[in-house]
Amino acid sequence: MKRTPETVILLNCGCENIQKIARAVRDRHIYTMVMPYSVPIERLQAEQPVGIIVCADRISAAAAEKMPKFTALGLPMLAVGEAAAEMAPEARRAEMPEGDVSALAEFCFRDCGCSGNWTMEKFIDEAVADIRRQVGDGRVVLGLSGGVDSSVVAALIHKAIGDRLTCVFVNHGLLRKNEAESVQEIFGRNFKMNLKYINASDRFLDKLAGVADPEKKRKIIGKEFIDVFAEAAAEINAPFLGQGTIYPDILESIPLDGNPAGVIKSHHNVGGLPPDLKFQLVEPVERLFKDEVRVVGKLLGLPAELLNRHPFPGPSLGVRHLGPIDRKTLQILREADAIVTEELRNSGWYDKTWQTFAIFVPVKTVGMKNHQRTYDYVIAIRSINSVDAVTAEVVRLPWELLFKMSDRIIHEVEGVNRVVYDITHKPPGTIEWE
Ligand code: XMP
Repeated sequence: MKRTPETVILLNCGCENIQKIARAVRDRHIYTMVMPYSVPIERLQAEQPVGIIVCADRISAAAAEKMPKFTALGLPMLAVGEAAAEMAPEARRAEMPEGDVSALAEFCFRDCGCSGNWTMEKFIDEAVADIRRQVGDGRVVLGLSGGVDSSVVAALIHKAIGDRLTCVFVNHGLLRKNEAESVQEIFGRNFKMNLKYINASDRFLDKLAGVADPEKKRKIIGKEFIDVFAEAAAEINAPFLGQGTIYPDILESIPLDGNPAGVIKSHHNVGGLPPDLKFQLVEPVERLFKDEVRVVGKLLGLPAELLNRHPFPGPSLGVRHLGPIDRKTLQILREADAIVTEELRNSGWYDKTWQTFAIFVPVKTVGMKNHQRTYDYVIAIRSINSVDAVTAEVVRLPWELLFKMSDRIIHEVEGVNRVVYDITHKPPGTIEWE
């Protein structure tokens, strides 16, 4: 856990924008932690805060009564949000930060005496020291997915303990084109990390063969992944498991009231590892937001291409290949997806969209190619923008770009003769089709 002398506590008393407020404070280089209003006073005191921001935009009188008397601590307090004044009548008031970010800064700098010196460089130094302290001369194993969080954690732990970190990268046969090679290239060759590459494609694809139900696919992939990872980890014999848990994962699992004692450490995203596989978790970015994780990755030398990657679902191409999984049609999807991504990057649209990808639709339609009748599959393209994946808006990609993708897919990917564009927002659609 990262502790600095300048921690400002955000007391969540029922506030939808709590993560935004936390980000606004951190943008001023002030470390802030979110705690539920029901947190015991001693737990809050343990962080040695310099001030408290009470955030409430809805709240019941019962909750106000339940809140411990934080005023007794004698710390500067600020009330943010419509209901916050009721919770902390003695605090200075501010409007929600969208309209009044300056009030947050003023409170932290003037009332709490913060100097605003919490930087990601400092974070890295502290995290490296913490990892060394926690791990001693032990070994750490880490499941590397090639996604941003696990990649940054790998780089951070590697900086701290070098060769005593072993990363395990499982190829489940549902990866995108060249993904296995690029992860090995970045981590194995460029960073000289111990990287255990496990090609378990056959094992996964044999189990998935003919499975069409999306939830069944997810279950098979999840279970198989845990088995393969556990086997690999047992060989490495490491007492520590590195994990890419980030702050929103934790915040979303903290109840506002009830179980207050366990609030800070109730989250475990490793869920499902067999109980006989006993690990101590190393979670160095558990107090960072995603964009902070990206900055840390950049400072540690990870390539921008990796850090700015679109989110990719755990079950990977498995849930973008509709209908029964088979190797041949999976290959069609892989090729089509690579073309979509390449054209997106070439046109400068990659960084302007949250997620853009191809979907394999197991429907055959009649078409014409080289003056011959064809009867081939459909590829759908989906491009959305979002802030949190809870809602999403279809991106109006330029027609020329879509035509180019379509033309290339039809001419370069054997087995496809039609490309369609998904124009469904979320809701009512979901981002993934399965
Ligand atoms: P949906 O399809 O629910 O997607 O609108 C929301 C976000 O979550 C991703 N997603 C998943 N991620 N395992 C994951 O790790 C999954 O099973 C899964 N399903 C969807 C999706 O890519 C989007 O960013």
